[in-house]
Amino acid sequence: MTKKDIVSNLLRGRPATPRAEAKTFAPANIALCKYWGKRNEELNLPVTSSLSLSLGALGSEVVIAPCEGSDRVELNGQVISSEASFATRLFEFLDLFRPSPETRFNVIARNTIPTAAGFASSASGFAALVTALNELFGWGLDKRALSILARLGSGSASRSVYDGFVEWHAGSREDGMDSYAEPLNARWPEIRMGLLTISAQTKKTGSRPGMKHTVETSPLYAAWPEKAALDLAELKSAIAAQDFERLGRTAESNALAMHATMIAAWPTLLYWLPESVRMMQRIGDLREEGVPVFFTMDAGPNIKLLFLENSEPAIRAAFPDVQIVAPFVN
Ligand code: PMV
Repeated sequence: MTKKDIVSNLLRGRPATPRAEAKTFAPANIALCKYWGKRNEELNLPVTSSLSLSLGALGSEVVIAPCEGSDRVELNGQVISSEASFATRLFEFLDLFRPSPETRFNVIARNTIPTAAGFASSASGFAALVTALNELFGWGLDKRALSILARLGSGSASRSVYDGFVEWHAGSREDGMDSYAEPLNARWPEIRMGLLTISAQTKKTGSRPGMKHTVETSPLYAAWPEKAALDLAELKSAIAAQDFERLGRTAESNALAMHATMIAAWPTLLYWLPESVRMMQRIGDLREEGVPVFFTMDAGPNIKLLFLENSEPAIRAAFPDVQIVAPFVN
């Protein structure tokens, strides 16, 4: 089963003539229970289900239009060389959707999440792109289908088709048609995320090869699926009960367990920088001082804080450079 098979199945009988232009936005998302490890690499099918929180107005805006000549992509106002890996990955993804081999696209993408500050934008980028293609061609696909298509670009993109808390069901089918995201029916207006930039440099090992390397070499990976399943259930019940301590503790523990699997890989996959560790310690100290704040981290050195609205002054005082996001307040 290839990506192309899935796309052909989903688009069978749908319109193939593009409009002049389509413009969409999708939010970035931060996982509280991580996706780490694939059961199928071609289709980005995960070993475990995961749960995230979308970042409201922080994400990617995409304008797409058919054009003559060759594909072209602009990111944050700059034309990207067609040889750059960003462009080749994008154009290869677009290959899945060209109604005829001659169809070419002009893509203008703008990230409102600070990519230059090391925050992942591929999830929001792919989600915005498939949503834009859906509009451009008038396919009329529902969110479930869009989530499946976004997953083909990047696993975590499956969750970026929704706002708020989102669960991505791992599914068990070989074709991945039961592996899509759905929003939780929960709002939590007081919740905040704080983005702490430790390094803005592109990391040496991306999440894709990092995941593969961990699954293949880490002696701790075998413990991950059970840990992720427990954390997912715990997070859902903490969200339903609006129990912030339980949410924060579970999210932090989940991120640390994921990093433990990476650190134990051989050769090690250590994304932490000295400053990341210093911040983790600072967060622990703040908790001891009575500020309920927790953190999560992805495949990189940057830290995302979790706290409630009433802790904002304490967080700003401890981390003057923090960028605060209110996911449920627009
Ligand atoms: O979707 P990818 O291939 O960029 O992988 C994302 C992996 C993590 O960010 C580490 C975890 C997650 O669930 O987002």
